[in-house]
Amino acid sequence: MNHVLTAAQFDHQELEEIMAQAADMENILNTKGFCDMAHGKILAALFYEPSTRTRLSFETAMHRLGGKVISEANIHFSSQTKGEVIPDTIRIVGGYADIIAMRTAHKGDAEIAGKYSPVPILNAGDGSGEHPTQSLLDLYTIKKKFPQLGSEKLVVSFVGDLKYGRTVHSLVTILRNFENVEINFVAPDALQIPDKYYQGERKESEISADILSSSDVIYDTRIQKERFKSVEEYQKFESIYVFDKEKVSQMKAEAILMHPLPRITEITMEVDDLPQAFYFKQAKNGVPVRMALIARALKLI
Ligand code: NCD
Repeated sequence: MNHVLTAAQFDHQELEEIMAQAADMENILNTKGFCDMAHGKILAALFYEPSTRTRLSFETAMHRLGGKVISEANIHFSSQTKGEVIPDTIRIVGGYADIIAMRTAHKGDAEIAGKYSPVPILNAGDGSGEHPTQSLLDLYTIKKKFPQLGSEKLVVSFVGDLKYGRTVHSLVTILRNFENVEINFVAPDALQIPDKYYQGERKESEISADILSSSDVIYDTRIQKERFKSVEEYQKFESIYVFDKEKVSQMKAEAILMHPLPRITEITMEVDDLPQAFYFKQAKNGVPVRMALIARALKLI
């Protein structure tokens, strides 16, 4: 089964292949705007945690491929609230749809879904675990801006909640497939990168002038409020790092500031007009990349 469950499943060659296919999809979007590749196919979008970008870009991707979508976007209306377990939900929905994009609040759910599903599962975020399709659109964004990725030195600094931020876990894993990438992790000790994703890189607790001026990519993240045990615990870290105009102006002119969004207080709106602000472009790349992932999983390309 062609599941996308974890960033660790991809090797360098497959990543290059997906990037090329996403570029083809972007070309379709920029010319005709749609195709009929997935005509007659149905995507089920099961989202048991809040989502705007991920669900809507998956749905847009399927529509633009000529397929149809069924969606469960409100946990309160779902049989999950009656106590239905993931294996059952997946076996049922797998009997209705040809492919499932799924987001849940629990780390490891995607893997469980993958074991039981009769159709491909695309992990759209499993709690504080992973978010592999996001990291592929992140890679697409980085490669488009820095085509030399892999052959020339590129400094990527991750900032924010690196413990619970699933997009970070997946992107770090993806970047390990490329040579010459220097990684920095900037987080308070309590929210530093988990050991599982750490390979001895530089760790900092402040966004220093050196981090700002030496990074080609700064990948900022939201403090993941929903993962904390109490509001008080969250509030300790709430606005710990803020990228404002003054900070972003210290970045190289050619560097980019990425963020999976939503941003809360960690990037001020005045930054949006600076050339380094890349998060809206990044979000837009979700559609061609997810078109490629759906088409691959359905063996249409
Ligand atoms: C991220 C997520 O859900 O993990 N958002 C997204 O999918 N673009 C990041 C976040 O919620 O902070």
